[in-house]
Amino acid sequence: MRDFLLKIKRTKIWYFFLLFFFQPLFNFIWKNIINFKGRLIYLKFKRINKFDKNSDYLGKNKDKKIIRDSKIFKNLTDKINQNLDDEFLKKMREKIGLRTYDKGHYLNDKPGFTIDLYPYLDEHLKKEIIHSALNTEIIDEVSTYLGVMPVFGKINLGLNIPVKGSSERGSMLWHKDDFGFKTVDFFIPIREVNKYNGPLHFHKKNNPLGAFHKFENIIKNPKRGERNKIKIEEFKRKVSDEMTESFLGMPGDALMMDSFSCYHRGGYCESSERIMLRICYHTPDSIDMLNKKNSNGVFRYCNLLKENDQNLSFEKKYILFYRPNIIYKLKIPEFLLFVYRLLHFKE
Ligand SMILES: [Fe+2]
Repeated sequence: MRDFLLKIKRTKIWYFFLLFFFQPLFNFIWKNIINFKGRLIYLKFKRINKFDKNSDYLGKNKDKKIIRDSKIFKNLTDKINQNLDDEFLKKMREKIGLRTYDKGHYLNDKPGFTIDLYPYLDEHLKKEIIHSALNTEIIDEVSTYLGVMPVFGKINLGLNIPVKGSSERGSMLWHKDDFGFKTVDFFIPIREVNKYNGPLHFHKKNNPLGAFHKFENIIKNPKRGERNKIKIEEFKRKVSDEMTESFLGMPGDALMMDSFSCYHRGGYCESSERIMLRICYHTPDSIDMLNKKNSNGVFRYCNLLKENDQNLSFEKKYILFYRPNIIYKLKIPEFLLFVYRLLHFKE
C-alpha cells in the first residue's frame, strides 16, 4: 500500500491534481477558515493602506525576491552595527567554542559554528529592530504574499564562523523548512555577505506546489539537524547550478523568501565570518509557533513591548500577540503537517 502511494505521488497526474485542484482548494481553506482572523485583519489593513507597487514586487505567486538599497534595512543594520563592538564579538566567538551538542545531534563531539546574538542585545535596540520588522510597507508586502496578516515567528541575529577542516553540513545542505504552509523570511546582511562567508543559496525557480512538493533522496538515517536535508552533489542531479542563485549583499540589501516553499542552504563560512539578521513571519498554524508563546502580555523577543500598549495599531498587536490557544489544543499544526507529508508530490 505504501509503495503504491509512493508511486502515485511521483506521477504527473498527481502533480496536476495538486496544482489545479487540491492546492487551490487548500489555499482557500487555509486563508479563509484556518486563518479567518488573520484574513479579516489583512482585508482591513489593505483597505486603509494603499501602496503603489513597482515591477519587482514579490506578488502573490513568487516565493522569493532580492531587495537592494532599502532605507529601512540600511538604518536598521547601521543601528545594529553600532552595538556590535570588537569586545562583544570576541566574547560571542568564545561562546561558540564552548557550546556542546547532546547525543543524537549531528554536531555532537564536533565544534559549533554559530550563535544567536539577539538575546544578548540591549532591550532598546531589540525594540527598534522589532519596530522595523513591523514597518507598514514590509507588512504590506508580507501579507500580500500570504493573503493573510502574519504573526511574528522568530528572530535570529546569527554570527557564523569558519571551522577548519569542515564542509557543508546540517542547514548548509539543501532543504526546505517543513513547518507549515506558507511563511516569509527576511535575510538581512548586517555586514557584507560574499561567497567566502556563508551566503544563502536558493533554487531560482518558483515552486508552485510549495509545501506540497518535495525532492527525494534525502540523507538516510539522519541525526538531529540533518533531517530532510539533501547533499549538494545529490541536489545537483535534480537542479543544475544555473537554476540556483547565491544571495550576496551589503547592509541595506535583503532576501525575502518563503522557506517552506523554496529549497535553500547557507551559512557555510569558507574563510571569514558572517553576521545576518533573520526575521520570520509565520501564521498561527505553523508548527514553529508551538514554542513561541508570549507570557503575561509581554512580547517574547523584547520585554519593552506589551500587549496593553495604546500606541500599537490593531495589526501590530495582532502580529506580536495573537496566539490562539484553540489551534494548539486541537493540534491543528500537527494535523496540517501530516496532510502536507501525506499528499506532497515527490520529484
Ligand atoms: Fe532553512
